[in-house]
Amino acid sequence: MPGLAVNVDHVATLREARKIILPDPVTAAAIVEMAGADGVVVHLREDRRHINDRDVRILRETVKTKLILEMAATEEMIGIALEIKPDVVTLVPEKREELTTEGGLNILLNKDVVSGSVRTLQEGGIPVSIFVDPDQSQISLAQEIHADFVEIHTGTYCDAQTEEKRAEAFDKIVTSMRLARELKLGINAGHGLGYQTIKSFKGVCEIDEFSIGHSIIARAVLVGLDRAVREMIALIKEL
Ligand code: PXP
Repeated sequence: MPGLAVNVDHVATLREARKIILPDPVTAAAIVEMAGADGVVVHLREDRRHINDRDVRILRETVKTKLILEMAATEEMIGIALEIKPDVVTLVPEKREELTTEGGLNILLNKDVVSGSVRTLQEGGIPVSIFVDPDQSQISLAQEIHADFVEIHTGTYCDAQTEEKRAEAFDKIVTSMRLARELKLGINAGHGLGYQTIKSFKGVCEIDEFSIGHSIIARAVLVGLDRAVREMIALIKEL
């Protein structure tokens, strides 16, 4: 059964709406773990719009499952990761003006920087995942530069407006995952996944872990975080 890592960025988004101390993503992470999640994900952005350095530092001490740090491949972030030592780093592209990560990292365009970052992080004892579009050339490049995992971007599939586009996007995801498995990469999947779209992954046995944030936190506002996580885990169990 694939695992579930829960992204708690949006708990911090709510906190930052008032620039106070509540709600605390550290408390959210503890609830997520008690509800059965396999990991906690946070994205430390250059502009610190939600998660901040204090959160990552405390989470390193309190998370008992696995702390996954999403970050851009910049000198600043690599320095922080080497100091904090998350269990996994996921390299993502980052633009100041975007609402959320908009697509996978283009390894081809940034090959030297990305491969240097992978090497430095791994030398520091941190396994590295690269968030990529479901594109075979990106998957092959990820293997070439010795990434440990790829996280396949599921957003295009989840946001597709027509059946035809949805089917086409899903096909690309499955084909990419098969290639990643052949290349012996670990396989995560995420972005845009929700309580309906997760069901499409029934029978796709290549996935090691889903990374899900917004839909779980959105549901948590209405039903509570513990229940929102448990309901997602129940759906993953049925895949
Ligand atoms: N994976 C990556 C690499 C992301 O950047 C994000 C968004 O922070 C997610 C997964 C989770 O996406 P969502 O919040 O849409 O579930």
